[in-house]
Amino acid sequence: MTTRAQAAICRGKDQPFAIQTVELDELRADELRIRIVACGICHTDLAVRDGQLPVPLPVVLGHEGAGIVEAVGAEVTVAKPGDRVVMSFNSCGHCPSCDVDAPTYCYNFFPENWAGTRADGTPTMFADGAAMNANFFGQSAFATHAIAHQRNVVRVPDRAAHLPLEQLAPIGCGLMTGAGAVLRSMKVRAGLPIVVFGTGTVGMAAIMAAKVAGADPIIAVDVNDDRLALARELGATHAFNGKADAPAKIRDLCPTGVGYAFDTTGIKRVIEDAFGLLAPKGVLGIVGASDPADKLVFNESQFMGGGRTVKGILGGDSDVGPFLTELIDLHLAGRFPFERLIGYFDFADIDAAIAASESGQVVKPVLRMAAEG
Ligand SMILES: NC(=O)c1ccc[n+]([C@@H]2O[C@H](COP(=O)([O-])OP(=O)(O)OC[C@H]3O[C@@H](n4cnc5c(N)ncnc54)[C@H](O)[C@@H]3O)[C@@H](O)[C@H]2O)c1
Ligand SMILES: [Zn+2]
Ligand SMILES: [Zn+2]
Repeated sequence: MTTRAQAAICRGKDQPFAIQTVELDELRADELRIRIVACGICHTDLAVRDGQLPVPLPVVLGHEGAGIVEAVGAEVTVAKPGDRVVMSFNSCGHCPSCDVDAPTYCYNFFPENWAGTRADGTPTMFADGAAMNANFFGQSAFATHAIAHQRNVVRVPDRAAHLPLEQLAPIGCGLMTGAGAVLRSMKVRAGLPIVVFGTGTVGMAAIMAAKVAGADPIIAVDVNDDRLALARELGATHAFNGKADAPAKIRDLCPTGVGYAFDTTGIKRVIEDAFGLLAPKGVLGIVGASDPADKLVFNESQFMGGGRTVKGILGGDSDVGPFLTELIDLHLAGRFPFERLIGYFDFADIDAAIAASESGQVVKPVLRMAAEG
């Protein structure tokens, strides 16, 4: 039996999202049907809309969904009907990366997340009687209901029962990436300096996590002064505007270099400047989506001689269930206060929410699909 839902169809750049009736496919044994309560909007949704990623259009986007489980397939053990859950990216569970709990680097990442269908090519959604591209990050949560998978659903622990799902929704992508980059990918050590370039969702999460890790100083760089002010409130000890020779100021502050530099801007010049700031054994972590034509240039002897590391990072090296639960616990303890980044919008106002994200007015827009109860 198929399930009716309302979903926001993305048809491409400069076209408004259109909310229309769709049907979800029957559940497979390892799938769950989630009634979506809320979903965050991430830059990756907009990159797909603008044709920068190889996801087929039209498509139902949304990959920071939270909701309540309505139904589960026979093999599902991760949650049961009635459970409150958050969702993240999907992975295959049987490749060399998944085998070592590194699913962000799943060899089958594209078919599991970006093909518009299940990995076996079958559609999860239909519109006007035809297959609709969906299963985006194993969820397509810009909708009232979604089909998700055993591997990308995390049950919200009972100790977080009082936290609204609309607040937890964005935890599964940008927040996880920034926090994971610091705590898992770069394994930031207490007492060493870190500089974070770009203070959007990913950079702010990195700053909050750097405070958890005990990095010192924690330096934020952005071109938006309002964001820098918020970064100071969330843990940055210093904040510099990227338009005003930030590298020179960072060198004055840390004459022997920084232990960690984290780039979320994807801008070649910023990344190369960041590399130049590294102390011996320093680590440069890179997450920002960049111009596909860009090539980074580093000095070889500076790279090799200082034992420096340049690290591409996806999803903060998250292992999904355990790490998202750890982040929920940090949030409960007031040490990961990402609610400060969120602005809420009704589902019907998705275009306004996207505009607020693109103008920089709201760091993390979250769409509300329905009340929890
Ligand atoms: N690798 C991953 O797993 C992963 C996951 C999520 C997001 N991303 C990518 O990470 C990037 C950051 O995501 P976000 O949601 O935080 O985006 P965002 O646009 O909210 O943040 C980027 C920030 O960089 C700032 N910036 C622009 N130019 C700058 C400059 N010259 N110097 C310093 N700061 C500058 C902007 O003002 C903005 O605040 C995006 O490219 C996104 O696609 C990657
Ligand atoms: Zn994302
Ligand atoms: Zn895999």
